[in-house]
Amino acid sequence: MRIRNWDEYQESYKLSVEQPEKFWDNIAKTFKWKKPYDKVLDWNFEKPDVKWFENGKLNITENCLDRHVETQPDKTAIIWEPNDPNDEGIKWTYRELHEQVCKFANVLKNNNVKKGDRVCLYMPMVPQLAVAVLACARIGAIHSVVFAGFSAQSLADRINDAKCKVVVTSDGAFRGQKEIPIKDIVDEGVSKCECVEKVIVYKRTEQFIRLENDRDVWWHDEMEKVDADCPAEEMDSEDMLFILYTSGSTGKPKGVVHTCGGYMVYTYYSFVNVFQYEENDVYWCTADIGWITGHSYIVYGPLLAGATTLMFEGVPTWPDAGRFWDICDKYQVNQFYTAPTAIRSLMSKGLEPVARYSLNSLKVIGSVGEPINEEAWRWYNTYIGKEKCPLVDTWWQTETGGILISPIPDVTELRPTYATYPLPGVQPVLLDKDGNEIKENNVEGLLCMKYPWPSILRTLYGDHERCRTVYFSTFKNHYFTGDGARRDAKGRYRIIGRVDDVINVSGHRMGTAEVENAINEHPWVVESAVVGFPHDIKGQGIYAYIICDRHVHSEQAFKDEINETVRKEIGPIAKPDIIQVVSGLPKTRSGKIMRRILRKVASGDISNLGDTSTLLNPDVVEEIIENSPMVKK
Ligand code: WTA
Repeated sequence: MRIRNWDEYQESYKLSVEQPEKFWDNIAKTFKWKKPYDKVLDWNFEKPDVKWFENGKLNITENCLDRHVETQPDKTAIIWEPNDPNDEGIKWTYRELHEQVCKFANVLKNNNVKKGDRVCLYMPMVPQLAVAVLACARIGAIHSVVFAGFSAQSLADRINDAKCKVVVTSDGAFRGQKEIPIKDIVDEGVSKCECVEKVIVYKRTEQFIRLENDRDVWWHDEMEKVDADCPAEEMDSEDMLFILYTSGSTGKPKGVVHTCGGYMVYTYYSFVNVFQYEENDVYWCTADIGWITGHSYIVYGPLLAGATTLMFEGVPTWPDAGRFWDICDKYQVNQFYTAPTAIRSLMSKGLEPVARYSLNSLKVIGSVGEPINEEAWRWYNTYIGKEKCPLVDTWWQTETGGILISPIPDVTELRPTYATYPLPGVQPVLLDKDGNEIKENNVEGLLCMKYPWPSILRTLYGDHERCRTVYFSTFKNHYFTGDGARRDAKGRYRIIGRVDDVINVSGHRMGTAEVENAINEHPWVVESAVVGFPHDIKGQGIYAYIICDRHVHSEQAFKDEINETVRKEIGPIAKPDIIQVVSGLPKTRSGKIMRRILRKVASGDISNLGDTSTLLNPDVVEEIIENSPMVKK
């Protein structure tokens, strides 16, 4: 199933389209199943209802751990590099990781967690987070990891939506020079959640925290009470494995649901092909486990492949901008996977921090999360990959579970800024806005999938109808990605970006409505409109136009308050880069905000604003242009 050359790619691709069930069966049967599946695929995009490996019984952790404990118990499974380079890291073998997972699974059971219960994980990048993820899977509990940069309010919304019974967290977190009071945020969040019975706290920073009687317990105390014997729960292929919340174009985050069998098969398959992982390689993905990239390509994909996966607690620029490269040399990293925003930020620091390191061990370098611009692509390719490592620009989404479009190193032809070809088993199409397929090459269109792959989302937690309308109703019998794409003369894809009201800030998906809702919580705000604009480092920045109900004496003080409100409602990642106080927003006669105009102004481009005379309030456009810091006068 590992594709080694262009002929094999074409053969596999052909088989995957002509006989998809045979194609996937060949891959799926290499796993450890407690009971084999009866049928490879059953699907209906209208409902939607997609089932892979029906009636198969398995436990994903047996495939991530037990299998490898039998064949390579002493191989390193996880390498952990702490925030401070002078502190000692951790290396766990497959045997040791298995033991930790089984013990923590027993801890969860002791705390009344049962198959099907939801468990929220709100933790820094410590290996115990990977342990907690796998321990949930071991006993059939559904994990919902919430990125530990989200605010108490966002955490509470996610806990309540999934009705999580237990929260696993830490006392604090180290990020660069900062120490973050994780447990205080959890206390505030959980105070709004009646469903939470227990909070399990891993000690990381040793900062002072309050433990609530009957509710809070220490990780280390609980681990002492249990042994390492925990048989893996028998799960159906289509049982839920996890929920992961992501932003959509309306205010409420969506709980994307992935199931056991298909997710297992696809994350493994895509991992080995895209990264061409070999026996003794060290693989490093710099994402946080709080995002899908961390789920699929720090934890599940690599462990399913029996790989050595590196986890890093800190940030790319501390103690200095050479930290990533220092870690690459220190552990002789072979595959390095990061985000364009990190590349752009390091690029801005010059070559000196790179020149200090050899980077000789690297074989493949990867990019994910947002379009990578040509300048960043070339810098990454030249100075990090030294023009000898294929650069894999991987396109995918929380909803797709795994990488769908990506180069395969030394197999498919690269092109800067192009994610290039679909992996075998993936059938992308470009549609025009009326839903007609654009079959030629050298075209642009809306990116859709016309056939299911094993790790496609199954539903949105508690809201199947929203899943149907968002992804499966725009175009009949197609999964709609929300992205626009271009296909070149050779059939390679370049992702242009979102075509909906979602912006991508440093690779983090943000709904404009979500940010507006947060801003509107400020008592003086009458109305707001948020749009994205091109940002040198973040890819897109957040530009907020705000109508305030009174004259503010200090605009700066008001802006600070808005930032604080957003930080409280969502988290620091959603703070606007630019706030402009306006007297009105351009609206159509039916009252719809003309975001197109606001987007143009935000990007500093006031040509072709179109006919504004039909607006309800044409004068306001003049005022907005006049006062915008982005428009050069
Ligand atoms: C964008 C992250 C261009 C895209 C795995 C998608 C990309 C959204 C790329 C999903 C890429 C992701 N090139 N754009 N290689 N990868 N995107 O759910 O707009 O956090 O729809 O998943 O990120 O973001 P998400």
